[in-house]
Amino acid sequence: MTGDARSELLAEVLSRYEGSPNPRLREITEAAIRHLHAFAEEVNLQRDEWFAGIEFLTATGQRCDGNRQEFILLSDTLGVSSLVEMLTHDGAEGSTENTVLGPFYVPDSPARAKGESMLVDPDEGDRVVIRGTVRDIDGQALAGAVLDCWQNATAGFYAVQQPGEQSPENLRGIYTTDADGSYEIRTVRPVPYPIPSDGPAGDLLKAHGRNWMRPGHTHMWVRADGYKELITHVFDAQTEHLRDDAVFGVRDSLVRRFEPDGAGELATTFDIVLDRA
Ligand code: BEZ
Ligand code: FE
Repeated sequence: MTGDARSELLAEVLSRYEGSPNPRLREITEAAIRHLHAFAEEVNLQRDEWFAGIEFLTATGQRCDGNRQEFILLSDTLGVSSLVEMLTHDGAEGSTENTVLGPFYVPDSPARAKGESMLVDPDEGDRVVIRGTVRDIDGQALAGAVLDCWQNATAGFYAVQQPGEQSPENLRGIYTTDADGSYEIRTVRPVPYPIPSDGPAGDLLKAHGRNWMRPGHTHMWVRADGYKELITHVFDAQTEHLRDDAVFGVRDSLVRRFEPDGAGELATTFDIVLDRA
């Protein structure tokens, strides 16, 4: 088929959306069609290859259930989740950067007092402290801001991945800032861990010789009345995989060094700046 015939085909397909009553849906659908056609043209896609792709997406869907979302994992490992986070986060200059949510967030973590450890189970990891303040972009301290935190254990897994082996509340906690906006979290030093690689998203990583590790990090979901929610991580500056995070979630501004503080604890400071809603 000639290039002209293929351009006519694309124009004909797009013309069928002209009467769409939903402008945003039309914009997204038309762009997806244009890019899909351009992709097939670019790689001179053949029927058996397109069918292999359809089988891959079918297997991806079949791997999803109430606990596992393989499409999100695929989007994460292709960097699309990270891109969408960048596009969605319209934080003002100076506000703390966001990053991916990931699949291991569990709502209703236990409330923790300032300085309390969110480690509940035995763990061989180094004990660390993360402390800082939550402020707005004018520097005003935010009292009563909530930091919903979660992290993997030194064994490499989140509590939600190991029911029966870890207590459900292990390494999860909701901290609240004091009147001066300060907070303090005790935990174990976060270690690198594998994302689930026993499904189609993992197969694709392995087919390309890519790794499926994430660098050590602690998750935070920060909320304060009148401010935009912030979903972010604190990364350990000395962890492995900062430069080859399987899900492209590392932002330089979120990397912190743990160092002995005045009290002899390994500690780091992570000051958070929220943008007004
Ligand atoms: C996480 O950091 O928990 C995570 C993010 C994306 C995919 C898998 C795990
Ligand atoms: Fe994580």
